[in-house]
Amino acid sequence: MAKKKSPQGTKPFLTDVKTLRARARKHIEQGAVTASYRADRATVVKLLNESLATEIVCVLRYRRHHFMAAGINADAVAAEFLVHANEEQQHADQIAARIVQLQGEPNFSPEGLLTRSHAEYVEGENLVDMIKEDLVAERIAIDSYREMIEYLGDRDSTTRRMMEGILAMEEEHADDLVGMLEEMGK
Ligand SMILES: [Fe+2]
Ligand SMILES: [Fe+2]
Repeated sequence: MAKKKSPQGTKPFLTDVKTLRARARKHIEQGAVTASYRADRATVVKLLNESLATEIVCVLRYRRHHFMAAGINADAVAAEFLVHANEEQQHADQIAARIVQLQGEPNFSPEGLLTRSHAEYVEGENLVDMIKEDLVAERIAIDSYREMIEYLGDRDSTTRRMMEGILAMEEEHADDLVGMLEEMGK
């Protein structure tokens, strides 16, 4: 049986160059956001702002824990808290930059920060408490980021890949914290 020649009217897989060029010229003020952006931008910006708040709360909590642990001569743990705090800050910066790329505004307002954040700010009474609270916060971030990644799917692959990178680091953080608890026999 002879193979059918590609019938007329079949949509080609790739957009033709002429259409691509014409489309790119429209709404150039939207920068990286082009006509083929398939996610709901407002929703993505809102989710990213919640993640930004989560990261900021984590920076604050880890920094508090860093200084408190240093004060009770738990230098190794204090140093690890600082490493985590700085990594959370990098996540916050990455997320804020992506929000701007998506034509949104990063929300750094202290007002409502804890409500926007998924993770909580718990000071902890002692070293073990601090580590446990950090672990809980990491586990919250892991779950919410994973959900966000699933939502993004292939609709916004750049944001998805960024969040996948951040998720991998939160998993490392959680793993570090479990290791600390084990070392302390808790
Ligand atoms: Fe983070
Ligand atoms: Fe983390």
